[in-house]
Amino acid sequence: GLVPDAAGDLRGKRILITAGGTREPLDPVRYLGNRSSGKQGIALATAAHLRGAEVELITASVDETLPNHVPGHGVQTAAELQRAVHEALPRVDIVIMAAAVADYRPVQVSETKIKKEERGDTLTLELEKNPDILAGLPALSRPEQIIVGFAAETSRDREHLLELGRAKLARKGCDFLCLNAVGWNDGFGADRNTVIILDATGTIVGEASGTKREVADAILTAVTAG
Ligand code: CTP
Ligand code: CA
Repeated sequence: GLVPDAAGDLRGKRILITAGGTREPLDPVRYLGNRSSGKQGIALATAAHLRGAEVELITASVDETLPNHVPGHGVQTAAELQRAVHEALPRVDIVIMAAAVADYRPVQVSETKIKKEERGDTLTLELEKNPDILAGLPALSRPEQIIVGFAAETSRDREHLLELGRAKLARKGCDFLCLNAVGWNDGFGADRNTVIILDATGTIVGEASGTKREVADAILTAVTAG
């Protein structure tokens, strides 16, 4: 109910959405992953499609069924996600990075299963930083393209959340940041979400609390206004 009479308002807009969480392999049977379900990204793709946008969806290990009529493909690692985003970037108007990207990947991927008999009582993994896909987009995009990031933060209160969000916005250089508070039980995997949408100056330009679909509509409205 957040966008009355909105059907068709995004006609002509091409939107790239990433959803889910990347997985970084350790060996042929194991990976480092995160708790992103992909629900918010998929809700964004569904909402944008129903509002008339041309949507491309890149998914990383989502548990959800993908929306019909939305072209997309799956990736596993952050490096694969980066390649897919860079490939699609020239043909879209808006990029929404809803995917949770692994910050680090194992320096070495074992060709064979890691065996505990060959290791001691502790196992140390050496990790290296993945590229920051979102932070790299402003330099690769055209000025009229709109880049939207997400930030999931564990925070004490609203002011602290906003402080973390504004600092992240400055580091990323994106046009909008959708901020949400997460904890062990909130955000990831849930059917509802609460976000604060900041523009590039850190000003609050939208807020929504509701189903992930309602939150998706509020985000789409905020980032396409004006
Ligand atoms: N992101 C990205 N590439 C990465 C890490 C994150 O593109 N290697 C994107 C995410 O898709 C999200 C935004 O950056 O849109 C913020 O992700 P987040 O994990 O909150 O921020 P980080 O910069 O990784 O900071 P930290 O996890 O340390 O809070
Ligand atoms: Ca991160």
